[in-house]
Amino acid sequence: NIKGALFDLDGVIVDTAKYHYLAWKRLAGELGFEFTEEHNERLKGVSRMRSLEILLEVGGISCTPEEKLAMAEKKNNWYVEYIKKMDESEILKGAREYLLKLKGEGVKIALGSASKNAPMILENLGITNLFDAVIDGNKVSKAKPDPEVFLLGAKELGLKAADCIVYEDAEAGIEAARRAGMGTVGIGSRDILKEADMVVSGLYELL
Ligand code: BG6
Ligand code: MG
Repeated sequence: NIKGALFDLDGVIVDTAKYHYLAWKRLAGELGFEFTEEHNERLKGVSRMRSLEILLEVGGISCTPEEKLAMAEKKNNWYVEYIKKMDESEILKGAREYLLKLKGEGVKIALGSASKNAPMILENLGITNLFDAVIDGNKVSKAKPDPEVFLLGAKELGLKAADCIVYEDAEAGIEAARRAGMGTVGIGSRDILKEADMVVSGLYELL
């Protein structure tokens, strides 16, 4: 019996992947190489620093830790420019309705995201108040597939892991949830989310 629902943000509730991509592509452009949408797939669910490392690997570029920090900050500043302009219209189909449906059933709701920008995005979408707990990139030290983000979410909801279910679009996120001992709903395609208990195209399918 499910008492808690933990949601990833990027790719589950909102399509921020396109903004992450624009910002990473711009950085790659400055560094003098092409960064494709296919490359970008590898960054989903991955932390900012790890994403940068993958991008630099693609470009065959090596640099110092200081340079990396500066690049990550630059990318984030561009990304923030994009998401600052986001509004309620960018919430993915069925997401708000599904959160409300669960709330109506007495299920507790938490966010479990790797993004340090999650609070601003929730605000711009007007859904902050639908969450009983928000675990984001500022609160965790170990990135998915480590289960930390979801274990902390269950803890803040006051629930046992086994009573929680996770909604994720990234392979690393499904693995994190499984390692936490939680049920999993994959958002996307079965080809990628091989380990999920069930897979749907979007939360609208669960209404
Ligand atoms: C995840 C995204 O939710 O957050 C990743 O899927 C992103 O693509 C990560 O790199 C970190 O986000 P931010 O906003 O802290 O740079
Ligand atoms: Mg995601």
